[in-house]
Parts: sequence; structure tokens; C-alpha cells
Amino acid sequence: MLKIGMVGAGFVATFHAKSLCSVRDVRFTGVCAPEGAQKLARYARNEGLGNTRVFSTVEQLCEAVDVVAIFAPNFARLEIMRDIARAVENGAKLKGIICEKPLARNLQEADIFVRIAKALHVPTAYFENQLHMPGIVEARSQLASVEQSMGAVHLTRSAEEHGGPHEPWFWDPTRQGGGVCCDMGCHSIAVGMYMLTPVGKPPDYLQPISVTAEMALLKWGKEPWISKLRERGVDYSQTPAEDYSLVTIEFRDPETGVVSIAQATNSWMYDAPGLRLLMEAIGPGYSYSINSLQSPGAMFISDTAASAVADSELALEKAQATRGALILQHNEPSLYGYIDEWRDAAAAFEKGHDALLNFEYGRSITTLIMAAYMAHEKKRTIDLTDGKTLHELEKYVPLIQQGKGAKVLLGAG
Ligand SMILES: NC(=O)c1ccc[n+]([C@@H]2O[C@H](COP(=O)([O-])OP(=O)(O)OC[C@H]3O[C@@H](n4cnc5c(N)ncnc54)[C@H](O)[C@@H]3O)[C@@H](O)[C@H]2O)c1
Repeated sequence: MLKIGMVGAGFVATFHAKSLCSVRDVRFTGVCAPEGAQKLARYARNEGLGNTRVFSTVEQLCEAVDVVAIFAPNFARLEIMRDIARAVENGAKLKGIICEKPLARNLQEADIFVRIAKALHVPTAYFENQLHMPGIVEARSQLASVEQSMGAVHLTRSAEEHGGPHEPWFWDPTRQGGGVCCDMGCHSIAVGMYMLTPVGKPPDYLQPISVTAEMALLKWGKEPWISKLRERGVDYSQTPAEDYSLVTIEFRDPETGVVSIAQATNSWMYDAPGLRLLMEAIGPGYSYSINSLQSPGAMFISDTAASAVADSELALEKAQATRGALILQHNEPSLYGYIDEWRDAAAAFEKGHDALLNFEYGRSITTLIMAAYMAHEKKRTIDLTDGKTLHELEKYVPLIQQGKGAKVLLGAG
């Protein structure tokens, strides 16, 4: 029985607690967070996930668990990782450390994460749920023999879009790391690259060659939206971030030399039902696609009944409407891949090794995100085969992340 501890008790930690209801041989032992910890612990106890307790420090939590999961905001991550390191140095026996996407806001931070985990000799899991989405996994498995005779996928398009994040810190590029590209581009880039990766090869097998990107502030820099953000303590006239991003990455298969392309589109202006995940993989003579808004279920709530709705997000992540025709997804933790990422990590940690996706993999996604910001900022293609560019990326902090987005964002200022 693997004892799990969570640092952070907000939106994603609650999603993960729901997911643990479908994972065998784990116990949700403890949680540590400035806000929401009691509520999450109560939920977990009610669901029979364990005698979940609230801990006041990360170090105390680490002493009581086998696996610690970092589900806190991006700006708080490094300090938490250092607390975990201190706990292990003081004798905590951890079998695994998990970190939610994105691993870090830039490569300097990502390098510290990777270095600390290596020095501790504790296996890691980078939580990128979209690679574990059952639809993606199943399509790849059913098409494996087709791919073998016809050749690997050569083009992918992936998108994640919704109407904007729930907490103010996500909107603040200095705390979050950027706008929608840092927040959700990391998902779409990772899954796009995975759909291009030949079956049987590791998720970081393909060699990225070049990155181009276009970013803009299309909705949230305008009235009345900019004022709505200001009411929440975020001022996009001073420190704007992108609410639209399109990143195109060219990859090379290191064994065959074959080139493929992933396009990732993300936005915080999807004023349509819920959270849309859209993935398309086009191979030679075959293809597959996923659309998270296509469901066999649907609901309808009339104007007269709408006032009785308790919470639109009870129905679907990022749902904006409480009436009309609504999407019905009965098992979002499964649909989005959360349950399977836990199963993968728990099984790996029990055997003493990294999950399918480890911190090094998270670092490689951070590299692609940084290259995308650099491409947008410099208005040119970034060559990832050039040693000088790779060196520059190691120290690079995007202007948007520095709070200087007005200099580079169409639609800002
Ligand atoms: N995989 C996904 O699809 C997905 C979805 C949402 C969020 N996330 C990621 O999960 C992370 C958390 O996002 P969220 O939506 O849960 O945020 P949130 O704001 O809803 O919750 C954050 C939680 O962390 C706690 N916290 C804040 N500072 C802390 C600190 N210094 N130490 C410990 N806990 C602290 C808060 O009290 C709160 O409980 C983010 O990095 C985000 O990118 C991933």
C-alpha cells in the first residue's frame, strides 16, 4: 500500500483525489496547503481513500508518506522541492516525487528540479495527463501494426482551450511563467510530440529541430475583460500575458531521419462549452482524432430551471454555462488520463524506478516552451540543433514572464 501525500489542495489536487478512487494499492495519507487542506482531507476520508490528515509542513508530510506530489502553484514549486530535499536528507524515506505540469517556469528552475531529484536518488514522475488519455493510448495501440507497415504519423494538431483559468495567479505571468502557452501549451506540445513518436519508442525519442510561434492578447486586453481581470487583482495594461498561442515544432526521427511536424494551439478565449481538447494525428494512409466535447451523453437545463444549478463546474471542467444544451462527461478523471498517470507512477515507484514521464522529460518540454517564447519574441524560427541557441535557452527568461509582455504582445498596451 503506497502512502500518498499531496502539497497543494486546490483544483488539481481535488481532481487527483477523485482519480485515486480508481487506483489500487494506494492510500491518500496526508495533505499540506495554506488553503483547502481540511476540505480535501475530509473529502478523501469520506471516499475511503485513507485516514487522510492535514500536515502543517512539507517536511512532516514527507516523514509520513512514501510518495509526495507537488500540486501547488508554479511560483511556489522550487521552495517545496527544497523542503522535500531537506526532509529526505533528514531521513524521510520517499519512494517517489511527483510534480504537476509545467515542471518549471524556465530552464534555470527546471534544472534545479532535475538536479535535486538526482541528488536524492528518488524516482520521479512528471504529471502530464494527456499522454495517458485512454483515447490516445488506445488509438496508438490499435494502429501499431498499421504504423509498422505504413510508417509513423507525420503531422499532429493538438489544442486545449477554455475561457480562462479559475485563480488570479494563473493570469499573472510573473507568478505563473507566462500566459496560455506556459499553462496549456505544455500539454498540447507534449501530446503532439507523443502522437508523432513511433510506438515502442520512449516519449523523448524524437529530436526537436526547430520551433516557430505566434502569440497574442486577443480578448483579455480589451474592455470589459481587462476590467474584470483588474477586479481580480491582475492588471493586463501593466503586465499582460498571451491568451492565444500557436506553436509549430519540427522533429526528426534519430534512426530514420524522417521529419514530422506538431502544431499546438491554445487559447483562454474559448467561449463555448467547457474545456476542449482536440487532437489529430495524420499518418501515411491512416489517422485518428480525439475531441473531448464529443460525448454519448448530453444534458439540457431550461431558463426556468437554471437558478437551481449549484455549480456549473460540478458538471464539466471550466464549464461557463448553466443552461441550454450542456456536455455530459461522466468520468473526467479517466477521460483526461489522470487515473492512468497515477497507475503508471504507483507501479513504477513500487518497482523503484521513474514513471513513464520523469523530471528530465518535464525539462525537455520546458525547453520547447522556452523556444516557443523566444521564437515569438525574436519573430524568427529557433534552431534547436544549434549549440549556441541551446546554451542561450538555458538562461532565457521570456519578456512576458518578466512582466514586460507589453513590448511583444499584439493587442497589449
Ligand atoms: N494537469 C492538468 O490538467 C492541470 C489542471 C489544473 C492545474 N494543473 C497544475 O497544477 C498546479 C496547481 O493548480 P491548481 O489549479 O490546483 O491551483 P489552485 O490555485 O486551485 O490551488 C493551489 C493549491 O496550492 C496551495 N498552495 C499555495 N501556495 C503553496 C505553498 N507555498 N505550499 C503549499 N501549497 C501551496 C493553495 O493553498 C491551494 O491549495 C499548477 O501548476 C497547474 O499548472 C494541472
